[in-house]
Amino acid sequence: MSTRNKRWILASRPTDRVEESNFRMMELDVPPLRDGEALVKVQYLSLDPYMRGRMEEVKSYAAPQPLNAVMVGGTVGEVIESRHATYRPGDLVVGMGGWQQYHLTDGTGLRKVDARHIPASAYLGAVGMPGVTAWYGLFQIGRPRAGETVVVSAASGAVGSVVGQLAKFHGCRAVGVAGGTTKCRYVVDELGFDACIDYKANGAREAFEIATPEGVDVVFENVGGPVFDLALARMNTAGRVALCGLVAGYNGQDISLQNVRSILVNRLTLQGFIVSDHMDLWPEALADLSSRVAHGTLKYRESIAVGIESAPRAFIGLLKGENFGKQLVKVQV
Ligand SMILES: NC(=O)c1ccc[n+]([C@@H]2O[C@H](COP(=O)([O-])OP(=O)(O)OC[C@H]3O[C@@H](n4cnc5c(N)ncnc54)[C@H](OP(=O)(O)O)[C@@H]3O)[C@@H](O)[C@H]2O)c1
Repeated sequence: MSTRNKRWILASRPTDRVEESNFRMMELDVPPLRDGEALVKVQYLSLDPYMRGRMEEVKSYAAPQPLNAVMVGGTVGEVIESRHATYRPGDLVVGMGGWQQYHLTDGTGLRKVDARHIPASAYLGAVGMPGVTAWYGLFQIGRPRAGETVVVSAASGAVGSVVGQLAKFHGCRAVGVAGGTTKCRYVVDELGFDACIDYKANGAREAFEIATPEGVDVVFENVGGPVFDLALARMNTAGRVALCGLVAGYNGQDISLQNVRSILVNRLTLQGFIVSDHMDLWPEALADLSSRVAHGTLKYRESIAVGIESAPRAFIGLLKGENFGKQLVKVQV
């Protein structure tokens, strides 16, 4: 009997907020394997803010997600059938399998991973693209020195949680910005940041001043808008800004800045980056991150939605801050 595959396709492009109706579920048979192909049964799907950008037909660093095609997405899963020279049934692989239960692959972009010391799901988070993003932006752009103050927004999330912990390992003062007391408490008590500012609370500006008594040397920006403005107002001379994301504006919200003057008077260096432009550094970053996760020194948290059916709802929640840590979908239930 053939294997049935449930998948989500992009049915329409959002005008501002993403709606569940922008996606459509399809169910079809997995076609027979051809020479050079392997079939992967997806265990976890990664949901990431970049997917919002792909849903629009605008100029960006990557081509838009085509309509009526399976939604793009990183996955980890097990090879269950193979006519590929490199992959054998039982291999655990990370790839871009998309929002579906099974994916047929010719091996392009596929990477074997080992779940003996690192859980499979972590290869989509702290030991995957978000972790490398944190590592690259902090060390290649932020270039912090021991004793400096590093601020990171979306601090409890997949990228931000790694940034602050790496900054601490490096001897810096790590200050997070996150939405709500529960996330902020986690960032300080569990992840070991020195302070965390709840940007949704009254008095966030004063709290930021108290948390950064020596000013700010490095900003790792994930959010944009008023959250970014808080940090810009505290920058020291010759500070660095690693502009990683602007999630506060992904649904079309206004993220204009008030404190642009800080870039001039403090002679800041501000650099945007896209982690996939730097594949040459991924092996070094992954070696560092995987060793820290395997030894339990680099911590992470996951929000796991259950069943492929839950992907659109979980994705919409991610864009509203409903996730707490790396947002995943457990595809096989
Ligand atoms: N440049 C690159 O190569 C690259 C690669 C990966 C990720 N990124 C970017 O890195 C950022 C973090 O990604 P992630 O995967 O780690 O996601 P994440 O932090 O795990 O989840 C997104 C978080 O963003 C915050 N957020 C969502 N909507 C917001 C809004 N309207 N205003 C303020 N905060 C909002 C929420 O945290 P709070 O509840 O704390 O507000 C939410 O939990 C994103 O901007 C993403 O696009 C960039």
